[in-house]
Amino acid sequence: SPTKRILSGVQPTGQLHLGNYLGAVRNWVAEQHHYESFFCVVDLHALTVPQEPAELRQATRRTAALYLASGIDPQVAVVFVQSHVPAHTELTWLFNCLVPTNWLERMIQFKEKATKLGSEVSVGLFDYPILQAADILLYQPHLVPVGEDQRQHLELTRDIARRFNDRFGETLRVPEADIRKEGARVMSLQDGTAKMSKSDPSDLSRINLLDSPDRLREKIKKAKSDPIMGLRFDPERPEATNLLTVYQLLSGLERDAVEKRFAEVGFGKFKPELAELLIEYLRPIRDRYDAIVGETGYLDGILRDGAERASAVASATLGLVREKLGL
Ligand code: ADP
Ligand code: NA
Repeated sequence: SPTKRILSGVQPTGQLHLGNYLGAVRNWVAEQHHYESFFCVVDLHALTVPQEPAELRQATRRTAALYLASGIDPQVAVVFVQSHVPAHTELTWLFNCLVPTNWLERMIQFKEKATKLGSEVSVGLFDYPILQAADILLYQPHLVPVGEDQRQHLELTRDIARRFNDRFGETLRVPEADIRKEGARVMSLQDGTAKMSKSDPSDLSRINLLDSPDRLREKIKKAKSDPIMGLRFDPERPEATNLLTVYQLLSGLERDAVEKRFAEVGFGKFKPELAELLIEYLRPIRDRYDAIVGETGYLDGILRDGAERASAVASATLGLVREKLGL
């Protein structure tokens, strides 16, 4: 078929934040009309670190509902939960037996997460990039839209596909990373050198899509800033650059127009404007979210249907792989 296929996903840990939205979900909303699209909630990835079961279940549903509230259309795209499609775990095992451990030992995100966790690091956390490779390659996508932070994992996925094809004959499509420059790396509100993340222990570090207007005002007010008058996109001023970028992406203005607008003022004037822009931008997403979770059975129906449509594609790929391996 001439239609190109894409696949992407977010972990259901905590809440979807502005980094996930600007780096991923917002692009999916545009791309779903140009590609055959698969968007999953990767709950098996969340299990790589300890989770409270009730909280995980709730976060999985909340994440799926936020995909829809953000504008993913389940009539157009396939929206599903990773653990509903068992082919993901089966292909992971098959890849486990194909990949040397030193490919995983190089993964920067593993090293960072393992250091943060300290004492107990699960085999699953180490194996996470293989599960991600399985998630992707099952759907034979052409493109994988992800944030900059996923570049190394995507490279590993490509290496796995190539190795499989080299050993067993052309089977898996080698996908390209589709990394947007803008929004590719939204930074923490508290540390301009760290990316905004669900795993940051401080909620003040991130904008959650479901934060109330008052909470948004508070977070922007408390966001780290500098005392320099006149705001500019300047690598030496990571806080100014990050917040101006957010302003630019949400307002739809050009970079120059944004700089001009705040050229004579400091953070004191800029922050309230940014807060109000955020509040208005997120309001319809929050409203749609409330409607979606308020309708009994609606979300479950979407996810059941999504799992069926995803399974049809995933099983076909898994069947090819099993056959090539002699299973
Ligand atoms: P988190 O790091 O918050 O747990 P995930 O690992 O679940 O987020 O990433 C889900 C998607 O969101 C990926 O495509 C990732 O590249 C993107 N993403 C995550 N954090 C950011 C960020 N701070 N800026 C831009 N994109 C991000
Ligand atoms: Na992450």
